[in-house]
Amino acid sequence: LGLTNSLRVSLYGAGQLSTNVAILLRRRSQIEVLGPFDRAERERALRAEADVVIIATTSFLTDVAPDIRTAVEAGSNVLCSAEEAAYPWAVDRSVANELDQLARKRGVSILGCGLNPGFAFDALVLTACGAAWDVSSIRVERVVDLGGFGQTVLKRIGVGHTAEEYDVNRRNGTITGHIGFPQSMSVVAGKLGIGLERIDREMAPLIADRDYEARHLTVKAGTTAGFEQRYVGIVAGRPWFACSFLGHVDPGSIGKPPRDEIWIEGSTPLHVAVIPGLNPQTGASAVIANSVRRIVDASPGWVTVGDLPPAVPHS
Ligand SMILES: NC(=O)c1ccc[n+]([C@@H]2O[C@H](COP(=O)([O-])OP(=O)(O)OC[C@H]3O[C@@H](n4cnc5c(N)ncnc54)[C@H](OP(=O)(O)O)[C@@H]3O)[C@@H](O)[C@H]2O)c1
Repeated sequence: LGLTNSLRVSLYGAGQLSTNVAILLRRRSQIEVLGPFDRAERERALRAEADVVIIATTSFLTDVAPDIRTAVEAGSNVLCSAEEAAYPWAVDRSVANELDQLARKRGVSILGCGLNPGFAFDALVLTACGAAWDVSSIRVERVVDLGGFGQTVLKRIGVGHTAEEYDVNRRNGTITGHIGFPQSMSVVAGKLGIGLERIDREMAPLIADRDYEARHLTVKAGTTAGFEQRYVGIVAGRPWFACSFLGHVDPGSIGKPPRDEIWIEGSTPLHVAVIPGLNPQTGASAVIANSVRRIVDASPGWVTVGDLPPAVPHS
């Protein structure tokens, strides 16, 4: 590009998120975008020797770890949208430590981020804590319009199933709900120097009382149009960090318009409300695109959004 601080960015995974990130980055004068590349072009994507490789494929550490390893070995910094990558130690300490060490050795950085995890339940919460005298407990509530998600993601998180399918798939783990609560909670607790004793979790389906036409899925009456999740991080036997997530293909239709709200309790209570709530599609692609420069500038190793300055749009 002939610009002194221009960056090459390669995208692996040719789905919705990668496509949006590529569109956004191509508007920036100092970024050269390669891809998005699909599975057939894995090597080309990961071994592009780009400044930053963006991996937007699945949600799980076990799936993305080999791809992260390949990109790091090729000398690239990595941004990964997998929810479990936001704090991989919550899933598999040995894989997290091994890739952290490898990145340190290669002088590059790895970051798992997006809107959630990566912003709504963690970076924004930490920023709000900055204006508090002290923090005795935290509550975060999100109501999210799921209508724009692709079919694979919707089915996996729990939308479009009969009540029976939902029960079976929830038990066998193929319906996951929103993934990433332990990651966000660990990032926030870690930065505030708090040790979580345990995280209690529950999830309930929301059954449609009529048909819904989501962008990529028809939800029939009597099947799941969404779900409600509640995760509570316990400290000294009491709730310290309570997160709730209500996702629905048309939340306004059940009297729950999208919103993001944070309550920080302590000597100086604080309430942050984002109305209407953060857009899951544009928000996630923005956080990732806006993280390209901060991951290049980060200290080597596997970092979290709690370790970095805010993501900001840049040229
Ligand atoms: N942290 C956040 O806030 C955040 C935000 C948005 C998305 N995400 C996560 O990021 C991932 C991508 O999201 P998306 O909306 O782009 O999903 P998507 O539209 O379903 O696209 C996923 C893409 O990745 C490919 N893929 C899936 N598994 C793969 C694997 N093991 N190896 C290589 N390629 C694979 C798929 O290819 P095929 O079509 O060939 O399967 C597809 O091209 C999802 O897991 C999603 O949950 C996180």
